[in-house]
Amino acid sequence: MNKDLREKVRELGDVPKHIAIIMDGNGRWAKMNSLPRAAGHKEGINSVREIVRVCGEIDVSFLTLYTFSSENWNRPETEVSAIMKLLFSTIRKEIDNLDKNNVRLTTIGNLNDLPKETRKNIKNGISQTRDNTGLNLILALSYGSRQELIRAIRRIGNRIESSQIKSDDITDDVLESELYSAGVPDPDLVIRTGGEYRLSNFLLWQAAYSELLITEKHWPEFRENELLNGIIDYQNRQRRFGQTDEQIKA
Ligand code: IPE
Ligand code: IPE
Ligand code: MG
Repeated sequence: MNKDLREKVRELGDVPKHIAIIMDGNGRWAKMNSLPRAAGHKEGINSVREIVRVCGEIDVSFLTLYTFSSENWNRPETEVSAIMKLLFSTIRKEIDNLDKNNVRLTTIGNLNDLPKETRKNIKNGISQTRDNTGLNLILALSYGSRQELIRAIRRIGNRIESSQIKSDDITDDVLESELYSAGVPDPDLVIRTGGEYRLSNFLLWQAAYSELLITEKHWPEFRENELLNGIIDYQNRQRRFGQTDEQIKA
């Protein structure tokens, strides 16, 4: 535990309420270490464990982890099945510990795409941790933001067709209520590891005003110090939401 960095985070004030992370760079980390890609995903789990623990300890309320995108299904079958196996075994191994640490597990994305046994064990994990009051850990699984928006628009269309609402009634809140992430505040900080400058179909609506932090570190190398430094970077920024510096200071 890095006491100096934690102290600095405390001094600087509020931590982001919601951090969302695009956990990228597992494959390159593996290559760099002359290992198969799956070994990168496996090592990435150690980062997940540490980041989840630290977020809980410093009172982050929501942590969304981009774990598997709707586009990741297009990877070679061997890699997809290795990731699905890891997902299954990790949830099985970690769920009691998460539960003990008061973590509440939820997901966004199309769970129906996942293998049956993985889906089942995720659902069990969600119900086991349902009443926990600590960190909300949100796994984005088979998640794509465009698909999420299409789904939301269809659901609103159904409400219009059944005369529950009129098209004029559609507001930000109505759209948000139909997203997978309904009820979750927008991410304050979106972190992408692995150095790519793109969102890769992640939280396109929700990240409209998020602060972005891109680091060259590969996900398996992203640990407590990297997270705390990222939060300090965030804390030193001014979020203006379209206003001027003077307005914010007033
Ligand atoms: C992120 O790491 C994990 C997933 C997308 C599942 P990558 O596997 O994309 O790693 P790189 O980008 O090839 O290094
Ligand atoms: C984004 O990483 C998805 C996850 C981290 C789960 P990718 O590696 O799939 O992104 P692209 O394809 O390089 O944009
Ligand atoms: Mg990648």
